Amino acid sequence: MLFPDYRPRRLRQNEQFRRMIRETKLSVDDLVLPLFSIGGKNVKNPIPSMPGQYQLSIDNIVKTAKRARDLGIPGIILFGIPDKKDPMGAQAHAKNGIVQKTIKTLKDKVPDLAVITDVCLCQYTDHGHCGIVRDGVIDNDTSLEILAKTALSHAQAGADMVAPSDMMDGRVAEIRVTLDESGFSAVPIMSYAAKYCSAFYGPFREAAESSPKFGDRRTYQMDPANSQEAIREATMDVEEGADIIMVKPALPYLDIIARIREEIDLPIAAYNVSGEYSMVKAGEKMGWLDGKRTMMEMLISIKRAGADMILTYFAIEAAEELG
Ligand code: PBG
Repeated sequence: MLFPDYRPRRLRQNEQFRRMIRETKLSVDDLVLPLFSIGGKNVKNPIPSMPGQYQLSIDNIVKTAKRARDLGIPGIILFGIPDKKDPMGAQAHAKNGIVQKTIKTLKDKVPDLAVITDVCLCQYTDHGHCGIVRDGVIDNDTSLEILAKTALSHAQAGADMVAPSDMMDGRVAEIRVTLDESGFSAVPIMSYAAKYCSAFYGPFREAAESSPKFGDRRTYQMDPANSQEAIREATMDVEEGADIIMVKPALPYLDIIARIREEIDLPIAAYNVSGEYSMVKAGEKMGWLDGKRTMMEMLISIKRAGADMILTYFAIEAAEELG
């Protein structure tokens, strides 16, 4: 079909036609809101690099969670900011740790909101790495046991789903076995399968107080130049028992989302990370970008690439926009 017989603009001329032929739709059902839980009462510490996002004490987490639920958002993903850190990340799996307490309260006060937990050690270790450090290197296999213990403690506190983000080899299998042996075979694992070593996590590390104190995360997070490797990582996690495969960050890795969508037959999640949020907020503040339109375009692009769900700090704003 060639011009002038075919004119693509015919179907763009009014909003009714545009609505009829729209291929991708973003829905509130696609959104998961990340929240940062910290000790204390009535705490709402603004995160300077992420305008509109806060470190919240449990009472305020409950308020935000209710707001998310009322807007129709199906779930949140929880990050904890402990008051003590140590080399082994003991607070990550403490029975009365910040995340464990938050889960209990949320499942009590807002039971109809899915609570997903981030399973990692970087907020809990004094060195800030996602695994256990031995002689200056991240020791994969020792980390597995502690990560599995952490996931189990979340399930015991009532978490609906666990999401390991550490990128240690073999952690999905270890967590699956541990959960199953303890009677939590119904708890799904959302695996951060293709998690890249990204500069876009910068603002998050301020929010979660989780920057590594030496070195960087290149020995465990993926090289941004690789795409085949993402398929291998995702395939491994499927075989180890993951229920949902995540790609992270989202925007600079839309090609990876699209490839994984083609090759993997599980729901795909994408994490629209802190830096992606901050860029839009900064652009808006400078008067250089229309914040709302940029947000919606970003989210629809992630959906169009093939993500079934999007973890995003924009969840509440986007849900409001979607009405
Ligand atoms: C923990 C973790 C990180 C993020 C989610 N879980 C940070 C990191 O790997 O350094 C980043 C989320 C974001 O930037 O919004 N490992």
